[in-house]
Amino acid sequence: MNLSVLSPDEFLDKDRWKESMVTPNKDLIVEYQSVKSAYFTAYPSPGTWYEGFSSQDYGNAIIEVLSRNPELPIQFYVHFPYCKIQCWFCQCYQMVTHDRDKMETMVNYLIKEMDLLLALFKKHGLKPNFNELHLGGGTPSWLPIDLFDRLVDKIGTFIDLKKIHEFAIEVDPRTADVEKIKHFHSKGVNRISFGIQDFAPQVGKAVNREHTEAEIAELLKTRHLFKGVNFDLIYGLPRQTRESLKETLDTVFRLSPDRIAFSILGNRPDVFKHNAMMKIEEIPGLIERAYMWEDSFPAFLKAGYVRVGMDHFAKPNDEIAQAKYKETLFRNQMGYSPGRFADVCAIGPSGMSRYGEYYFASSYNIPDYFEFIDEGKFPVVRGYKLDKDLEIRRDIMNKIMVYYHVNYDYFSHLYNIDFKKYFAQEIEELKEFEGINAIQMKENSFTVTYFGNYFLRNLCLVFDKLNLKYMHNIESGKVIRKEKVVV
Ligand SMILES: C[S@@+](CC[C@H](N)C(=O)[O-])C[C@H]1O[C@@H](n2cnc3c(N)ncnc32)[C@H](O)[C@@H]1O
Ligand code: SF4
Repeated sequence: MNLSVLSPDEFLDKDRWKESMVTPNKDLIVEYQSVKSAYFTAYPSPGTWYEGFSSQDYGNAIIEVLSRNPELPIQFYVHFPYCKIQCWFCQCYQMVTHDRDKMETMVNYLIKEMDLLLALFKKHGLKPNFNELHLGGGTPSWLPIDLFDRLVDKIGTFIDLKKIHEFAIEVDPRTADVEKIKHFHSKGVNRISFGIQDFAPQVGKAVNREHTEAEIAELLKTRHLFKGVNFDLIYGLPRQTRESLKETLDTVFRLSPDRIAFSILGNRPDVFKHNAMMKIEEIPGLIERAYMWEDSFPAFLKAGYVRVGMDHFAKPNDEIAQAKYKETLFRNQMGYSPGRFADVCAIGPSGMSRYGEYYFASSYNIPDYFEFIDEGKFPVVRGYKLDKDLEIRRDIMNKIMVYYHVNYDYFSHLYNIDFKKYFAQEIEELKEFEGINAIQMKENSFTVTYFGNYFLRNLCLVFDKLNLKYMHNIESGKVIRKEKVVV
């Protein structure tokens, strides 16, 4: 039985929630979850993208891919890296500033980067089909209104903001009030994502990020203006307990967002210095976190949400839940999409773009980012060109993480291969997971079981030909590839 396609009601009819899956399987969970792996939101993972891709390569890739497919739907993503307050858990590319001049300079450079793109499009007669816009960061809601307007007005010169499917913005509630959110709406924003993380005061204090239900309820007075509201939550935060998380979820369900991203805490003090501000002894251990997941999953379902991917939930009428049923749901480095786009044109420092078989990463260093733009170059520092083999593997991982099911015939047909011959070794390796009841294998498919939820990344690793697990230098936090070291 494919549990992932059961409706919430069908799930709740099962007795499976009554018994813990974690208690009898602690050793297995520790063993498998201790294996270091990438998140597989992009494959190959950004840690393996390599240097040697230039501004010109970036331009050529756009021309090549758009000439081949002029209608290719693309999301336009703008990365605004500044925040108001530093959260100790944060692993986004961001820094705190209260300096308006710095923010203005950043907006000027984002506009210049757009001008570089527009010149390229014009020169080659391209009219990219940007059907979605996402303002992320950092904290784009921290922009002063006039700078926000300058940025959005510029985007409005080449994207019809009234016509696109989705114009979303990430909002740190500490940077916005009802008036500001109404203003976002007046400029075309139709989806809002609030970073919440947790409501428990002791957790908030431990991560330098506190929110109350009343504050968020106040902001939600604007929700009728938007086609959807998302909350970001994190489990595994310091001082969080199973009990406190249940209370946070009760608060969340009262506020009733349309979508919820429920991420497990990532903690890399070696890479993100501020992560060290979280006390390691206050962070719940691996098994405690597994219990948190086990408690939360049925809580989401009971509250009327459906699971739309590894760590996302949505109300059944939300378009990403609908996309799950229609099998058009797609996941990339930006999160989940109902399937309207897979490719991303990202601007701003640390932006990650995807055009067909190409990935590109922009500079993570603001002075370097400015220098590139001043020289009239795209700020590209790394990239990857996938061959057909890697494209198939990327597609398989998407199916594992979004649908928990891989149908061999689908892949044989789509990629003109004999799946069982092509992946004979991988199918052999999957038997290990069948042995621990993480998957059910059939003649022409395999399906992740409810227990297999704890092993999704391990399953992706089976298909990870680049074997990041062997290249990942855990001690230094650096990823090593072809003698090049990339932090
Ligand atoms: C750019 S932030 C969201 C917008 C805004 N800056 C805010 O915090 O409200 C993106 C999201 O990434 C998630 N995130 C950041 N660091 C994380 C970590 N170490 N582990 C898990 N999720 C994390 C948080 O849930 C956060 O809301
Ligand atoms: S979680 Fe959001 S507000 Fe907090 S530091 Fe990260 S990007 Fe900034």
